[in-house]
Amino acid sequence: MTTLVTGGAGYVGSHTVVALCATGREVVILDDFSNAKHGVVDALRALTRTQLDVVEADAADRVAIDQICRSRNIDSIIHFAAHKSVPESILEPLRYYRNNLASTLTLAEAALERGIARFVLSSSAVVYGKAAELPVTETSPLAPESPYGATKQMCERILADASADSRLQSVLLRYFNPVGAHPSGDIGEIPLGEPQNLVPVVMEVALGTRSKLQIFGDDYNTPDGTTIRDYIHVMDLAEGHVAALEANLGSHSSRAFNLGTGVGTSVHEVVRAASEVTQREIPFDVVGRRPGDLSESWADCRRAATELGWSAQRELKQMLGDHWRFLRRQSRRVP
Ligand code: UD1
Repeated sequence: MTTLVTGGAGYVGSHTVVALCATGREVVILDDFSNAKHGVVDALRALTRTQLDVVEADAADRVAIDQICRSRNIDSIIHFAAHKSVPESILEPLRYYRNNLASTLTLAEAALERGIARFVLSSSAVVYGKAAELPVTETSPLAPESPYGATKQMCERILADASADSRLQSVLLRYFNPVGAHPSGDIGEIPLGEPQNLVPVVMEVALGTRSKLQIFGDDYNTPDGTTIRDYIHVMDLAEGHVAALEANLGSHSSRAFNLGTGVGTSVHEVVRAASEVTQREIPFDVVGRRPGDLSESWADCRRAATELGWSAQRELKQMLGDHWRFLRRQSRRVP
């Protein structure tokens, strides 16, 4: 049996491919390489020691999907391929709605028509918006504040309705803040353009390719005044997808799960830990708040533990150490 992984050359997708192959599953990657490099496929083939099957196509391309389903024995789909930038989605909302909804609709239609039994959706804690209570549970209100967040909520709804009308089991995985890289250092996050997320920026400062970190506000109502997030190692996240694929939740079911660690970490704590792990100074300035940032967000992960038998295993220093190893490998500037 084979799993179709859309966006399998991307950040979370590529790590999930490694985790899937480790269980002996056959995988077909479908990726249009709009936000991934072809070199990732070579790294994946070396890491998994398989001749990974890769199809270069858009996840909304029904002809390509039907062709894959006809020629391989696809029994499940994990759908990562999506636009994923909050600020970009505010600037170009229709491009986000078109892309993220069309691919999910197309894949869901294909799943139903072809009797594919399982669908795992890459969703995000961004669906909770600011209304979140702490820790955030799966029953917290959904109130996304950006077009990107709205597309994720809508994709969840599409799958819930598709499952209610069929034998499909859909699992909606709401990620908190994925960081880190595969421990080999061979795959990791390759932001196209300037990184915006905290850990990639901190690591660039440690590497010396950026002079200083800007901390966006230290006047939040938190113990050290900086914002708090639930950072999760990308390999824990990857293993969460395997657990979601393997869980028996029943046909007609659609179930959402938070994937986080349940531990909140402040920006200052991240900077201190990164400085220890990299053995480098990380100079910073405190500047004004970034518009739209939440003060605190961390996950209640008990549902995933109980129903998927999954919980995150790796702690912050391991996330940062693995990210650092990957970045050093990528960069010829550091000895
Ligand atoms: C962002 C995205 C979210 C995505 C997540 C992980 C938004 C509103 N949300 O979340 O959809 O799932 O990344 O990819 O964009 N910070 C600094 N200096 C920096 C960068 C960040 O102080 O240079 C602070 C931010 O103010 C924030 C915290 O670090 O409070 C974490 O930021 P970031 O890594 O961008 O994640 P989120 O904003 O939580």
